[in-house]
Amino acid sequence: MTFTQEDARAELASAPGSEWWRTAVIYQIYPRSFADASGDGLGDLPGVTAHLDDLRELGVDAIWLSPFQTSPQKDAGYDVADYRDVDPIFGTLADFDAMLAGAHERGIRVIVDLVPNHSSDQHVWFQQALKAAPGSPERARHIFREGKGENGELPPNNWESVFGGGMWKRVTEADGTPGQWYLHIFDETQPDFDWTNEEVRAEFRDVLRFWLDRGVDGFRVDVAHGLIKAEGLPDYTPDPEGGSMGGDADAVPYWGQPGVHEVWREWHEVLAEYDGDRALCAEAWLPTVAETALWVRPDEMHQAFNFHYLETKWDAAALRAVIEESLAEYGAVGAPSTWVLSNHDVVRHASRLALTAENPQGAGIGPKSPGQPDPVKGLRRARAATALMLALPGSSYLYQGEELGLPEVIDLPDDARQDPTWFRTNGERYGRDGCRVPLPWTADAPAYGFNDTGASWLPQPTEWAGLAHDVQVDDPASTLSMYRALLAERRARGLGAGALEWVDGYGDDVVAARNGSVLVIANLGAASVDLPAGEVLVASGPLDGDRLPTDTTVWIAAA
Ligand code: NOJ
Repeated sequence: MTFTQEDARAELASAPGSEWWRTAVIYQIYPRSFADASGDGLGDLPGVTAHLDDLRELGVDAIWLSPFQTSPQKDAGYDVADYRDVDPIFGTLADFDAMLAGAHERGIRVIVDLVPNHSSDQHVWFQQALKAAPGSPERARHIFREGKGENGELPPNNWESVFGGGMWKRVTEADGTPGQWYLHIFDETQPDFDWTNEEVRAEFRDVLRFWLDRGVDGFRVDVAHGLIKAEGLPDYTPDPEGGSMGGDADAVPYWGQPGVHEVWREWHEVLAEYDGDRALCAEAWLPTVAETALWVRPDEMHQAFNFHYLETKWDAAALRAVIEESLAEYGAVGAPSTWVLSNHDVVRHASRLALTAENPQGAGIGPKSPGQPDPVKGLRRARAATALMLALPGSSYLYQGEELGLPEVIDLPDDARQDPTWFRTNGERYGRDGCRVPLPWTADAPAYGFNDTGASWLPQPTEWAGLAHDVQVDDPASTLSMYRALLAERRARGLGAGALEWVDGYGDDVVAARNGSVLVIANLGAASVDLPAGEVLVASGPLDGDRLPTDTTVWIAAA
């Protein structure tokens, strides 16, 4: 079927009122690693525009772009110095507009990342704050406090940065004396805003309007659980087993404070001023599905990432439980569940699902990590996991490169690593560079077609020639072909808007369910299982006659 630009326009035009985000498959673009049109080794917005046809052919409904706004790149763009401009390494606002128009012409919606919890230390407000006196309105936009101890030489409390080390940095006052301390949940170049300050709130409502006026379809909201801190900033010692973004424990004084919901209600109203269906998606790491569901009440965010699903181990009972819980809890507040297996903060699922030892999700893995994953098993499981995920009702997030079956790059040389986590822990935690390596587009080209020059901000493994887009695109057995087939069937059969019904009889190690006209069966057990009669629509790997082998998922046309 040929999809014309007219079809695309008609599809987008018919969508207002349809709440497209309830069922959308949203593809995450990590701009610095997607495609590099300028050839400087860092991906850019013209690189995205150049590959929009590939995304249309893949069959995604929307793209989410990780930050491309002006930034010193101390945390790969999650340190924003100007929220209303494009960083020159990614292009210009005109490049953004061209990319947005090109996506919309193809029926692809565009969500941009917004980072409200903290700015870059180069943001004009923070620079003004450094020059201003303690207690001034300039200092009140970020979180400055006096230190403890006789001369204020100790930090105001014991909080530890998510990236390692303390959460406070002391400044030198204008007269040269050691002065106040400022709070940074992440790197010291990422000072937190004070969200109890109306000036901060007004500024961000305006930033929302800046991008909405340009035509974006929504926002992925960074650290949505962190904006408000508990009154008095009480001491807190985190659980060493906590998740990467720290949100796995209850009662953390800087995560999930009730005041945050007020902010999302304000933002919801701003989006509602605009036509079409614009959406907010929360990056919120919270202890339970039920708590996360509170973020998507009808007057707050539209979606939240389902990190509980991402963190579920490769185990049929655990998967059934998290799917059931997600559908129930999100359903109870009238929101769709989302599903996600990979992103730029966690070990790629083609490696993670084959880790033989427990490993913190966001800390990354390197050559010395225990339980090195078997790549064959990892890819097999990843394909099976994706085939299960895309059969579920609701909205799914894909991370660039998973459609090529890319594994985590474990053996990056130490001197290539760039994640602040690596530096702030003195190399104790590898960080997230291994899931951020630039994509291979063409096997037989410099930097595997990432650009024309061969430059690449992180080195690409030589095995990636075999995983390049051009090698996979016409191979019916490739991971890319599987993704395309799954997405085409999902769209044609309306699975995103469907309902799930469990199917029994396959044993404890199998997840089997019916969603409308599709019966999905995922075999996580060691032994193969009998398949029912029926047309096989898609399989994540070779079938063994009429049996479903281990770590394989199949979609069968339901009778
Ligand atoms: C979550 C983002 O996904 C991550 O990449 C970033 O480092 C932190 N938030 C801080 O912005």
